[in-house]
Parts: sequence; structure tokens; C-alpha cells
Amino acid sequence: MILGIETSCDETGASVVKDTHEILSNTVEFQDEIHGPFGGVVPEFAARHHAEKIGLIYESALRKAGITACEINGVAVANGPGLVGSLLVGFMFAKGVAAALGIPLIPVNHIHAHIFMPRMIFGDRIKYPHYSALISGGHTFIIRADGELEYSVKAKTRDDAAGEALDKIAHFLKLGYPGGKAIEDLAEKGDPRKIEFPRVKLKDGSNDFSYSGIKTAAFHILTAKTGEKPDVTDLAAAYQKAVFDIFFASLESLMKKEPLPQVVFGGGVAANSYLRRRAADFGHDTGTEVYFPPAAYCTDNAAMIAGLGSAMLEKGKTYKNEDVFSRADYRKLL
Ligand code: KG4
Ligand code: ZN
Repeated sequence: MILGIETSCDETGASVVKDTHEILSNTVEFQDEIHGPFGGVVPEFAARHHAEKIGLIYESALRKAGITACEINGVAVANGPGLVGSLLVGFMFAKGVAAALGIPLIPVNHIHAHIFMPRMIFGDRIKYPHYSALISGGHTFIIRADGELEYSVKAKTRDDAAGEALDKIAHFLKLGYPGGKAIEDLAEKGDPRKIEFPRVKLKDGSNDFSYSGIKTAAFHILTAKTGEKPDVTDLAAAYQKAVFDIFFASLESLMKKEPLPQVVFGGGVAANSYLRRRAADFGHDTGTEVYFPPAAYCTDNAAMIAGLGSAMLEKGKTYKNEDVFSRADYRKLL
């Protein structure tokens, strides 16, 4: 029975997972209302809110799982990447629980935990190797998973994450934060062919992507003093299409070089229904199996931390006092 703690960004999460795959509870507190007015996460507020809520969230996770603290065998905690202040709250809380109960502490890489999640949901249907496409407000990666604890990054964003690119335009259009869903809703009513956004192809031949070009182009269109103002639904449709064109161009090129039979999607942006249609078409055209876990397990959650922590504990990967909690350290993990 593993307790998972997640406070990498602006979700405060605690979860109890049994035998690596069975999710007994998954409690999450969102902070959208706190950060909404600022159009993005304010790190200081996020950390303070985690500190305020983490104890209650932990108690709620135990209660929902129907267990007492004494029944926990280990504490897994997200220790990066993420906002340092936010991470520290979760890490110190987890360290305290582990010390008080005399059980192992298992620091877990947040990105690896996202990739592990589909195995908890779909079990052996997810085979190794496969590609994991992780698209959220904080990260955009295509990662090759060769085993439960074996990962290699195949493509990453060079600047903004895909969700961030959607959020920034949504904020400019005063659609609220996070704005990915609002852009999706507007895009359903628009015609993507009305506006052409530039597509950046990186010169170094890598499969990495970049979103700053389309974001700047959108700002130029929206702030132009002359010319006809575009219909906002057409702009949303063209912009959303450009975001996913960039992503699929990278996935297609990767698949040509190193074809794998399955692609598993994750991250908050995986809730997008246009992306899901594009992924289904991609799967159909290339003979690839495509998987989307339920939305609650695509976004940041502590169940994925507990699950991966449990798999790591089985392999003896726990915290040692000489391990240093530093940014440099978790950069090395990817
Ligand atoms: O995984 P997540 O909850 O948090 C992290 O960023 O780690 O992802 C949040 C992101 C935001 O950028 C939000 O705008 C985006 O996911 N998002 C969507 C949709 N729902 C959430 N983007 C596009 N379409 C959606 N339906
Ligand atoms: Zn995440």
C-alpha cells in the first residue's frame, strides 16, 4: 500500500495505491480560481496553497481508501520537474510522513509517473516499447518507453508547452485560465482554412517542436492596427489546428524513423476532442494503436506518483540521505 503525494505545479494531490495498479483513492485540489486572474500559475501562491491544503488532502486520501496511516508501506513523492516552491511542500510533507511511520520514501520523477499511468489503467494491453505523448500546460514530450522504468525522450518542445501556447492566446482573448477548453469550444465553430500560421521546421533535423512562432503570429494578427480583424472562431480553429499539426509532424517523422505499434496520450491537453480525432485518424492511417486514459488520470494526479513509486520500491529504488534535492538532479532524470 503506497501513499503518493503530488505538488509539482498547481494541483495538490494525495492517493493510495495497492499492488502497484489498484487505485484506492485519488484526491486532488485544483487552484484554477487562485491563478485564473493572472492568466497563469503564480509560483508563490501555488506553494502557499499547497502548504495550506496538503494535510487535509492527505487525510482525505486515507479516508477514501478506508485505511489508517499504519497500513501504508511507503511514501512516493513527485520531486521534479516542477515549481521548486511547490515541490518542496510535497517533498517535505512526504519526508515527514515517512519518518514518522518509519517507512521508505520514494522520490519519483513527475514525467515518468505520467508515462507509467496508462499501465495502471490499461494493464498489459500497453506493451513495451511504445511511445508516450505527454501534452500539458507544463510539458510537451514524445517519450519512448522500453520498460516500466526505462524511458528516453525522443521529442520535446524548445519553448512553450502546447497547453501553454493555447492558454496564452486564450488569456489574450479574455477566455479565462486555463484556456485550452475555451479555445477548443470556439474552434468547433470556426474554419481553420481562413488563417495560415507559420510552421517552424528545426534545422538540426531533430523531431523537437516549437510553439513560439505561432503564438507570436497570433498576437500580431490580434493586435494589428490595419486590415480586417479575423473572426475569433476562425482564429481559434486555425490556431488549434496549427498546435496539433506541429505535434503530429513530429510524431509522424519519428514513426517513420523508429516505428512502434502503440502511442499513449497523457497530460491535460489530451482531453481535447480535436486532438482525439486527429489521433484516431493517425492510428487508422498508420496502423498504430492509440490510447487515451480518462481525463482525471491525464492531468496531474498523485495516483501516478504512488503507482510508479510502488514499482520503484519493488526494485529497491528509495530515498537515501545522500540524494540531493536540487534542480540539476532532476534534470538528469530525463
Ligand atoms: O496536465 P495539466 O492539468 O497540468 C499541467 O500543465 O501539468 O494540463 C493543463 C493544460 C492547460 O494548458 C489547459 O489549457 C490544457 O491542459 N487543457 C486543454 C483542454 N483541457 C485542458 N487543452 C486543450 N483542450 C482541452 N479540452
Ligand atoms: Zn504533469
